Parts: sequence; structure tokens; C-alpha cells
Amino acid sequence: MAAVAGITLPLLSVSALALTIGFSQIGSESGWRTSETESIKAEAQRRGIDLKFSDAQQKQENQIKALRSFIAQGVDGILLAPVVETGWDQVLKEANRAKIPVVLIDRGVDSDPSLYLTKVASDFKEEGALAASWLAARTNGKCDIAELQGTVGSSAAIDRKSGFDSVISNFPNMKIIRSQSGDFTRAGGKEVMESFLKAENGGKNICAVFAHNDDMALGAILAIKEAGLKPSKDIIIVSIDAVPDIFKAMADGETNATIELNPHLGGPAFDAINASKKGESVDKWIKANGPLYLPDTAAEEYQKRK
Ligand code: AHR
Repeated sequence: MAAVAGITLPLLSVSALALTIGFSQIGSESGWRTSETESIKAEAQRRGIDLKFSDAQQKQENQIKALRSFIAQGVDGILLAPVVETGWDQVLKEANRAKIPVVLIDRGVDSDPSLYLTKVASDFKEEGALAASWLAARTNGKCDIAELQGTVGSSAAIDRKSGFDSVISNFPNMKIIRSQSGDFTRAGGKEVMESFLKAENGGKNICAVFAHNDDMALGAILAIKEAGLKPSKDIIIVSIDAVPDIFKAMADGETNATIELNPHLGGPAFDAINASKKGESVDKWIKANGPLYLPDTAAEEYQKRK
């Protein structure tokens, strides 16, 4: 007990107040991913959370090892940004048995939802559908599209593709003529776009690029310029994330549209773990969808975000 101005208070140790949370992050493949990591670390610090951070460098096996180590340490909760959608059942069951709540961050898994507390993420299908609807309106429903897919097997790539395809299937003159993974990286986007341009008459057959993220779109912009074409004019570009560099490219007239993916997912994830500790119910999906941005606000958005 401690006495303050004559009042006796129960003495609470810091460890009784602060949560210890393990965070298994995918890696640092994109500008968006780096912002998400920084935002979650900052939010943990603001709340006095002891965050045990592990960078999986794009490997699921590293994530599974990290989760097992968090479980062995008896953390109060786990944030998992799963690199791919499948293969999580066993380790999620282990966390469940240890009564450690797992919050999926940003990407989803195909496991039974009873194995995790909640998913804090955007609806990737809606993002893909929004990109396709905008492109259909922009091209009057006539466009041959080159698609730069994200990491193979990730929910972000699977669902963005399926959302996009579901909309263009309503337009007989819109079709995907090339589609390949650029692994969500700028270098991958550039390399794949170079091969598309070569295969499609130097790019003359390509009406638009749908890039599953901004970094691949930024790589594609470089490839298009090197091929002697004007990105955004000769080839329309739509992508997802809304990172500062894409707004700079848009303000410079080199890309056409981006859809925002909110990187500030730490707050709702920590709130969900707190709520579950208090025995409160938590929604299975805490959605964080963002709007589509066009060049008219790009310079202003760049100033706000850079
Ligand atoms: O899972 C979300 C995606 O992963 C982002 O769009 C991309 O930039 C990333 O790295």
C-alpha cells in the first residue's frame, strides 16, 4: 500500500497494468507495410504496451516460429499479419489452447473463425471491385488490362483479383490480357511490367494497368516511361494503398487513381484484445475500408502524408 496526502492507495505494479503483445509482421515489401509497422509500434508505445515485434521476411515458417515463441513466453495477445491465407490451423489451435487471443491484422486466413479473436482489415474484394468500377466508367467499358498481382496465396491478392474480376465480367469489352505476380514490390512491378510491354506490342495493346498495390504501380510507371510511353495517358493506371509516393506520381500526371488502405490498425486491434480480457464480445471482422483518390486532390494529399 502507498500513502498519498493521507489517503492509502493499493500499490499496482507496472507489469499488472501493461499488456505484453507479440506482433508477427510479414516483412517490409512495400511503403504501406512500413507505415503499418511504424503506426502499430507507435500505438503500442502510446498505450504502454510491451510489443514483441518479429519480422517474418515474407516466410510463413518464420511467422509460425514467432507465434510459437510468443505462446511459450505467455504473452497477453498476438497480432498476426498472415503472409498467405492457408496453413494456420495448427498454430492457431495452439494459441487457443494457451488461451491467448490472436488478432489478424490486415490480411485474412482460411481457418475456422473460432480460432482467432477478430480480423482488423479492409475488404479486399470491395477494393478490387471499386478499382474495376472506376476503370469501367473511365474507359466506357472497353479496355484490355494488364494486372500486377500481389503475393501469390495472400488474401490481399486473391480477394482483390476476385473483386475486380466480378465487376469486369459485366463488361464484354473489358478483359485481362496479362496477369502475373510482382510480389507487392516496386522492383517486382517494374520487372513484370517490362515483360508485359515486350509481349504486347511495346505496350500499344495495353489500355490499363490494375496493380494490386501502389509500389507495383510505381515500378510499372518506370517501365512504361522506359518503353517510351506516357503513364496515365497512353496507359491508364489504378492501384491500391494511397502511399505518399503514389500521390506525388499522381500530382506529376503519371498515374490516375489509388484506393486508400488504412495502415493505422493497431488501435482497434489492441482495443479488441482489451475487450476480450474483460470478457466483452468482439466483432469477427473490424473493417477499415478507404476511398478512391483522383489527381484533383493529389498534390494536397501528398503534402498531408509525406
Ligand atoms: O495486405 C495488404 C497489402 O500488402 C498492401 O496493399 C501491400 O502494399 C502490402 O504489402
